[in-house]
Amino acid sequence: MLDRRRYHITTFGCQMNKADSERMAGILEVMGYEWTEEALDADLVLYNTCSIRDSAEQKVYSHLGRQAARKHENPNLTLIVAGCVAQQEGETLLRRVPELDLVMGPQHANRLEDLLEQVFSGNQVVATEPIHIVEDITKPRRDSRVSAWVNVIYGCNERCTYCVVPNVRGVEQSRTPDAIRAEMEELGRQGYKEITLLGQNIDAYGRDLPGATPEGRHKHTLTDLLYHVHDIAGIDRIRFATSHPRYFTERLIRACAELPKVCEHFHIPFQSGDNDLLKAMARGYTHEKYRRIIATIRDLMPDASISADAIVGFPGETEAQFENTIKLIEDIGFDLINTAAYSPRPGTPAALWDNQLTEDVKKDRLQRINHLVSTQASERSQRYRDRVEEILVEDQNLKDPTQVMGRTRGNRLTFFAGDINQLRGKLVKVKITEVRSFSLTGEPLVTACL
Ligand code: SAH
Ligand code: SF4
Ligand code: F3S
Repeated sequence: MLDRRRYHITTFGCQMNKADSERMAGILEVMGYEWTEEALDADLVLYNTCSIRDSAEQKVYSHLGRQAARKHENPNLTLIVAGCVAQQEGETLLRRVPELDLVMGPQHANRLEDLLEQVFSGNQVVATEPIHIVEDITKPRRDSRVSAWVNVIYGCNERCTYCVVPNVRGVEQSRTPDAIRAEMEELGRQGYKEITLLGQNIDAYGRDLPGATPEGRHKHTLTDLLYHVHDIAGIDRIRFATSHPRYFTERLIRACAELPKVCEHFHIPFQSGDNDLLKAMARGYTHEKYRRIIATIRDLMPDASISADAIVGFPGETEAQFENTIKLIEDIGFDLINTAAYSPRPGTPAALWDNQLTEDVKKDRLQRINHLVSTQASERSQRYRDRVEEILVEDQNLKDPTQVMGRTRGNRLTFFAGDINQLRGKLVKVKITEVRSFSLTGEPLVTACL
């Protein structure tokens, strides 16, 4: 028997990229490739790249250098750059790394097999033209057997002045409610228990689909979608990300409170706590509106966990404006915030402004905000102590095989003693005994009847 060709994928960036990688891995397996952990052994290597900040973009180049050298010894090696850097750089990437066989933007992920056929007939291929994303008929190779991602809307029509995503992911394209439901039903049949619905701006879901209600609202909002998929057999938990404060509705909050499978966990980036900066970022809301959203969530779901993203050192940010961000964080109390120092990105308006801050100022603000974020996360963790939480078991604790790990409904990683072969995919009541900033440890209440 011929040796099967081995492939390796390294994924950078957000959940969208992870979901795309799982689909591309599925396509490669259908084509007869076999997964290998080792990028330097593989016959086909794919880097699924992220361009959100310069540091993310630079990561791929060092990997590419090594692979390009390998290609000189092994011309049969197939070398692919996919994802957001591929879209951003296109042909330029081929000029920079002529050893590449294929440069493909995120909208082309489902076309990997076609593109590879062109490569195998002797072409160097660049696929970055905007296309309508073909409805997904691939069978993803999912990393988890318990929780799965389901794309509901691709692309982004916002124009936040710092952000490359609209340039690299294209215009919004919603999948139909029935296509989403069909994928979730299949996941339910395969034994998946938790689904995270994905979109860069998930609150925009459906606005590109035809139809409007008599009240003038579009017909297929995210709220409608949650009702549409809520009863799917086998699925115990539903999450969604990422929420945009500009479009986040009270109707959605009410649906989350009402629908038992929807977890009380909200990821709503605020980016800045200062209204003038929010305006310069073109975010379309004020910090007062953000505070009202969180107040309504906490009114209906007092224990909801709230996470967010924030940028410090945006062009022109004064010390007083930075302090408004600190104040917002102090007032609200977050479970987690992904923080970043502003990074000028190609093709974005803010990168061209002449009021850029120095790296020192950005670094200093990042350190200060990070200190606050971890202190606050640790305080927010305290509320779990001695409580009984429902944990969905995902995997073994890699650092301690006598333990399993899973998440609370609020998305806190939790460890407890148990056998993964018995517990994978089970919902277990766990009494929390130890709390840390970003994780918990506990003791299972009943294991006998599992
Ligand atoms: N769609 C989401 C965010 C997607 S990008 C939203 O609208 O909130 C993920 C995060 O990266 C952003 O929330 C932002 O905090 C950060 N980010 C985006 N562009 C950035 C830049 N140029 N510099 C620093 N951080 C950035
Ligand atoms: Fe980027 Fe703004 Fe779109 Fe989020 S909403 S992906 S920050 S442009
Ligand atoms: Fe990065 Fe692209 Fe996601 S730029 S954050 S991988 S959409």
